[in-house]
Amino acid sequence: MRIILGITGGIAAYKSAELARLLANQGHRVRCILTEAGARFITPLTLTSLTGEPCYGANPDQGEWRASPSIEHIELARWADLVAVAPATANILGKAANGLASDLLSTVLLATRAPVLWAPAMNTGMWEHPAVQANMARLRSFGHAVVDPGEGGLACGEEGSGKLADVASIAEAIQAHGTPKLPILRGQRVLITAGPTREDLDPVRTLTNRSTGAMGIELARAFRDAGARVQLVLGGDLPAPWGVETVRVRSAQQMLEACEARWAESDGLLAAAAVADQRPGTPSSEKVKKGDGAETLVLVRTPDILARLSAARRPDQWVIGFAAESEKHLEHASAKLKKKGLDAVLVNDVQDGRAFGAQANTLTPVTAQGPHPPMGPLSKDQLARAVAQWWAHQLELRPD
Ligand SMILES: Cc1cc2nc3c(=O)[nH]c(=O)nc-3n(C[C@H](O)[C@H](O)[C@H](O)COP(=O)(O)O)c2cc1C
Repeated sequence: MRIILGITGGIAAYKSAELARLLANQGHRVRCILTEAGARFITPLTLTSLTGEPCYGANPDQGEWRASPSIEHIELARWADLVAVAPATANILGKAANGLASDLLSTVLLATRAPVLWAPAMNTGMWEHPAVQANMARLRSFGHAVVDPGEGGLACGEEGSGKLADVASIAEAIQAHGTPKLPILRGQRVLITAGPTREDLDPVRTLTNRSTGAMGIELARAFRDAGARVQLVLGGDLPAPWGVETVRVRSAQQMLEACEARWAESDGLLAAAAVADQRPGTPSSEKVKKGDGAETLVLVRTPDILARLSAARRPDQWVIGFAAESEKHLEHASAKLKKKGLDAVLVNDVQDGRAFGAQANTLTPVTAQGPHPPMGPLSKDQLARAVAQWWAHQLELRPD
């Protein structure tokens, strides 16, 4: 993606160097525009060195408007796939909300047709001021995305909201907002389960599996980036992705309850979690003392979440299951598809420890038409994007 990163005059401007570096490392082309006040906090030399691209705007040597054979603000506005401003001062928010174009950054923001994203940072009193909030509402009404500031200790010594969101979240929001949408998935409400479940034997011991949740989290990101409104029901310890409403669960029963509470309002389900099939029959509230010799653990079945949600589906809802099989994976996937009444099963072959915790993965879709060509081996983020594209295509082929 070609990103213009606007940097305005707030203390948090020093963090924009880290953001520029992160985006460049992710393979994006990043051109920075500094406002005059921004250039008092961070230098063009730092940004140019980190991005390998020119830095524009207030430059002590050249001034705000560089003599250039091209019309620089229009050229930059056209060049960008996305314009992000981080940190965004109250001043630039006010200017952009009201169509003012008094310097290079505000003029590019007015001229561009690319998506715009704001990461505001300021003193709590400024952030909570009705004028700033009205400007934010206006910018959102233009379709601009906002990475809300977080809470914490501010440079001015106050505690409260107004602190620049963390750099990784801003980078993720840029990725989400700048990715072209898949029209058929835009606005769809997609429920995704991910991660392992944990079934406690007692307060210190637990039964679980080797899933990390990475694949389901990447699916949540890919469907979010494609334009869907994603709700993620997540087991395990991995951090939740930005821009996805996430519910953390531990056991299969908790996962079922979280899914059932959200299923009626969803358009589709991707059941990517590795749900424990069994749980201890009599979990103990006290730590179980060790005995001598062999011991027997009685296990009972956990609820089949996918089957339960599929049985409760409306005709307009779609359901995709996942299967990890160590043998005859296509046959098992086909049987699961029929037994649970699914639209598709995405099966991965987990022989030799493939899939769980691995960097690359392959998924083969199986539908009522039979197996489709395998997707992969691909990294999990690429594979998740391939799944979103494949499923968007399947939805387009569906009769109304
Ligand atoms: C030390 C210092 C820190 C500042 N921090 C912020 C800030 O975090 N957020 C903000 O909105 N303004 C902040 N300001 C005020 C802006 O720099 C000022 O409104 C300036 O006109 C913004 O210009 P710009 O939006 O063109 O960069 C700060 C000013 C100073 C001197």
